[in-house]
Amino acid sequence: MNRNKVAIIGCGNIGQSIIQGLLKGKTIPARNITATRRNISELAFLGESGIRTTTDNISAVKESGLVVIAVKPYDIVSILTELKDYLKPGKHILISITAGIPISQIRDVTGNKFPIFRAMPNISSSVGKSVSCICHDGATAEEIEAVKKLFDNIGTTMIIDEDLMQSATILGACGIAYVLRFIRAMIQGGIQIGFDAATASAIVNQTVKGAAELLIERRQHPEFEIDKVTTPKGCTIVGLNEMEHNGFSSSLIKGIVASFEKIEK
Ligand SMILES: NC(=O)c1ccc[n+]([C@@H]2O[C@H](COP(=O)([O-])OP(=O)(O)OC[C@H]3O[C@@H](n4cnc5c(N)ncnc54)[C@H](OP(=O)(O)O)[C@@H]3O)[C@@H](O)[C@H]2O)c1
Repeated sequence: MNRNKVAIIGCGNIGQSIIQGLLKGKTIPARNITATRRNISELAFLGESGIRTTTDNISAVKESGLVVIAVKPYDIVSILTELKDYLKPGKHILISITAGIPISQIRDVTGNKFPIFRAMPNISSSVGKSVSCICHDGATAEEIEAVKKLFDNIGTTMIIDEDLMQSATILGACGIAYVLRFIRAMIQGGIQIGFDAATASAIVNQTVKGAAELLIERRQHPEFEIDKVTTPKGCTIVGLNEMEHNGFSSSLIKGIVASFEKIEK
């Protein structure tokens, strides 16, 4: 059992974000991480940090205890078929971060022999600020703890029921794109009212970070904090109401539901 050796199979956008977060977290040494993809030159920059990079998925699995599958949904069956004879009960824990593929489908390919997890991190893994929702099947308490510990390296981890994994994909993984678009719009507004782009970005980024940390630390509902900013007849409430008249909350909710309907198809 080697819970401190990780293979990332299919190291594209999210795989690289996870690795950058693991390197930043420093609890897993770079030499214990193996990253694979076919176009290996794309991972040359990781090699410099001491991570092993290879096109050989099987050797990556043989050398690791935690096997993270990070390929697109249309590639997962062929990857699992390639790896299944090398995944050993007691040695390996399989973790799929591929969106939309249920554990039952993974088990159909790999056989009913070892613990399987699904995890849904987001790209802020790279700066250690992901929220990773995980669910599992056939895992012991020690195995759950090992996987939780892996994802705690790149942010916070929540264990959820598998039937909420699609929702977690939308709210957490896609969600970062919604927030980034919101930030972009605020920057555009900031430029229109007088700031250069760099200053507007610095103000908005810190404001968004502050708002999130306020809610995380105080555990308050957003509206409780909004009430502190909205002077009667003041500029904040006028702006907020104008946004709502133009469908601000409604468009966000509709976007989230549209993404969810798309993933459920
Ligand atoms: N991006 C996100 O924010 C995010 C967040 C959470 C979950 N996810 C999920 O994670 C999965 C990957 O997403 P992504 O955005 O990282 O996609 P991506 O950038 O396309 O990464 C997938 C990687 O898999 C590699 N690959 C394909 N076949 C392979 C094979 N046979 N052996 C080894 N590597 C192989 C590809 O590289 P080569 O072509 O070089 O082999 C590619 O770089 C998706 O299912 C997605 O839903 C993504």
